[in-house]
Amino acid sequence: MNDAERRMLADGQYWSGFYNYYDDLGYRYFQDSRLEVAPLIFHGILQTVRLGRWGRYEHWHEPHYRDFFSDEVLGAIPRGCSAIELGCGAGWLTLELARRGASAVGQDTALEALVRAKHYAMAQGVDAEYVHASSLSLPLAPGAFDLFAGFQALHHFEDLPSVLACVHEALRPEGRIVIFEHRRLRPPKLGKLAVALDRLCLPLIKRRYRPTGRTDWQASPNEDRAIAEMDQALRAAFRVERQKDYSLLLQALPVYAYFLAGERPLAFVAGSMLSNAFDRLVAALLPDRCEHRLYVGGRRASPGNSTAT
Ligand SMILES: C[S@@+](CC[C@H](N)C(=O)[O-])C[C@H]1O[C@@H](n2cnc3c(N)ncnc32)[C@H](O)[C@@H]1O
Repeated sequence: MNDAERRMLADGQYWSGFYNYYDDLGYRYFQDSRLEVAPLIFHGILQTVRLGRWGRYEHWHEPHYRDFFSDEVLGAIPRGCSAIELGCGAGWLTLELARRGASAVGQDTALEALVRAKHYAMAQGVDAEYVHASSLSLPLAPGAFDLFAGFQALHHFEDLPSVLACVHEALRPEGRIVIFEHRRLRPPKLGKLAVALDRLCLPLIKRRYRPTGRTDWQASPNEDRAIAEMDQALRAAFRVERQKDYSLLLQALPVYAYFLAGERPLAFVAGSMLSNAFDRLVAALLPDRCEHRLYVGGRRASPGNSTAT
């Protein structure tokens, strides 16, 4: 086994542990994003955010999910297409693609997460396939897929240009890509804001709520492996027709507001509006500082060089 394989194995084990932890506590959002109410596990505090008439949690809290599920992105995927998701984790996106009528395959190195994902899909009566393989040894037939999907996964991969060249081959010429990705690590100066928020709020919240079991996950061993090459490697193989940048720096704010206000839905909504407004401002004024990007596009005729942003 070479070093790259060893690292991929370690990363798969890390992610299996991560998803098992959430699954065991009854949090199924990584398996099924359609669940109306999932417990929130935040620094080990287990709580259900009930927004009642204010709507769904992610509607306020996670603008990038909202965009990902929009008519222009997942909504535009034709029924009957054959789709592959790389780094599917516990499987929510592969499941979602299958529910939307795609013949969907999710791939990952986290075996236990895949087993749970498959059991969950079967229990739901959804025909989704999950494959245990590393991105570097994918047996993809040329032209086998109409859609290549990924959510927060590619930046973990070893040798991303080779992986994407292989996906390029596996996509039909009119194939589509829908990818949400990390572009950079938290920007140091702005990131201090988020750290300050944690320092201020967490001790107050922990005084009221008793954390359950393991409270924090260290970053995965491969967390920032391919971030630097992500954008360039993706554009070398694919044409990006639509992109949107996200700064998710203050994402914790609504959760803090909810807990500190004594589990009040309105505090959550207000906190979300504030954090989303701040993040939109960062995206508009300092696009280079944004950490995430949604990519929607197609396959280049032949992979080549591209300008990274
Ligand atoms: C941040 S998680 C995202 C998972 C999922 N897409 C989601 O949205 O919940 C990253 C995933 O990439 C997987 N991964 C990392 N390196 C991989 C590789 N070389 N091949 C396949 N999957 C890999 C990990 O096991 C993990 O499940």
